[in-house]
Amino acid sequence: MSSTWGDKIKISVFGESHGKGIGVVIDGLPSGHKIDMEQVYEQMARRAPGKDKTATPRFETDIPTVLSGMLNDVTTGAPICAVIENNNTKSGDYSNLLDCPRPGHSDYPAYVRYKGQNDIRGGGHFSGRLTAPIVFAGALCRQILEKQGIHIAAHIASVGSVKDKSFYDLGVFPDENILKELSKSRFALIDKDIEENIRQEVANAAEKGDSVGGTVECIVTGVKAGYGDPMFGGVENIISSIVFGIPAIKGIEFGKGFELSEMHGSESNDPFEIIDGNIQTKSNNCGGILGGITNGMPIVFKAAVKPTASISIEQDTISLSGMKNAKLSVKGRHDPCIVPRAVPVVEAAAALAVAQLVL
Ligand SMILES: Cc1cc2nc3c(=O)[nH]c(=O)nc-3n(C[C@H](O)[C@H](O)[C@H](O)COP(=O)(O)O)c2cc1C
Repeated sequence: MSSTWGDKIKISVFGESHGKGIGVVIDGLPSGHKIDMEQVYEQMARRAPGKDKTATPRFETDIPTVLSGMLNDVTTGAPICAVIENNNTKSGDYSNLLDCPRPGHSDYPAYVRYKGQNDIRGGGHFSGRLTAPIVFAGALCRQILEKQGIHIAAHIASVGSVKDKSFYDLGVFPDENILKELSKSRFALIDKDIEENIRQEVANAAEKGDSVGGTVECIVTGVKAGYGDPMFGGVENIISSIVFGIPAIKGIEFGKGFELSEMHGSESNDPFEIIDGNIQTKSNNCGGILGGITNGMPIVFKAAVKPTASISIEQDTISLSGMKNAKLSVKGRHDPCIVPRAVPVVEAAAALAVAQLVL
């Protein structure tokens, strides 16, 4: 399996949802950075399950144990290894899935790829649980980046048909206080008035044994112009490569993304201007990236999160042992909507990608 990502900063994520634990080895983080562990725990708690009605009731504390690479909470420059225990597993719920794969999940292709040897309990290595180590690694990176004036925030941009405001509604340089609040929030919304509508959208789906998807919008401010390379080393490439490591992410767009394809050049181009001796652009339709290289404006991207595959509504599947058609209603504890929990994961992925570029 390929669970290692990165070049200058490398992460290697290990574990399975119902194994003893999960974790990450981070290689390449610079030495001498004091890490505020309370802030790390805060980020872990934003993603942790069992804390909100829109999420799985599986409760996990998700407190990481750091085995190496930090002394008195200061990075030593050696590889950092962090382990998170799995305490709340109910593996019986998954016993039939090796034979009857879940539509929309990895069960069937993983069965073929690993000849039926992959751990299917709780989704095994394919589980959303494996994003906890990403949040840990991202939480370290974001603290180091903040010292360089780089801030990252994301929010629930939509769930089903309910849409939040966009960062684009807040001007080209959104208020830093709003970004700070979002980056701590456990249900991150720009327009808090729509929270109940979103909760209702999730509840409606969950009541029917169904699930619902949505989008997460992310912004990175404070990255200077000139990072990234053309073609395959672009900032879009680096961000996409880690964001697609988050299970259930099926799309990404930068800046105005697909909307740009419906514009004329006169609308989509971001005109330059000089303000107080600084070069900037009047709009930011390109999302801070041109030619794969940062232009000094905020990096903005949006990721599409599919509806959770595991639903209790009966669906068509197959029995692999009997080579015949079968029916499946998925049991167990699942997120009726992945989007709220994906928000801190997308922020963490952005932190790792930007750290790769600027550290
Ligand atoms: C935070 C998070 C939680 C998730 N929870 C679930 C879940 O409860 N049930 C489920 O079927 N999939 C869940 N997923 C998604 C699956 O892991 C994912 O759909 C599956 O591995 C197949 O990969 P793909 O959707 O990227 O193709 C979750 C993903 C994330 C990021």
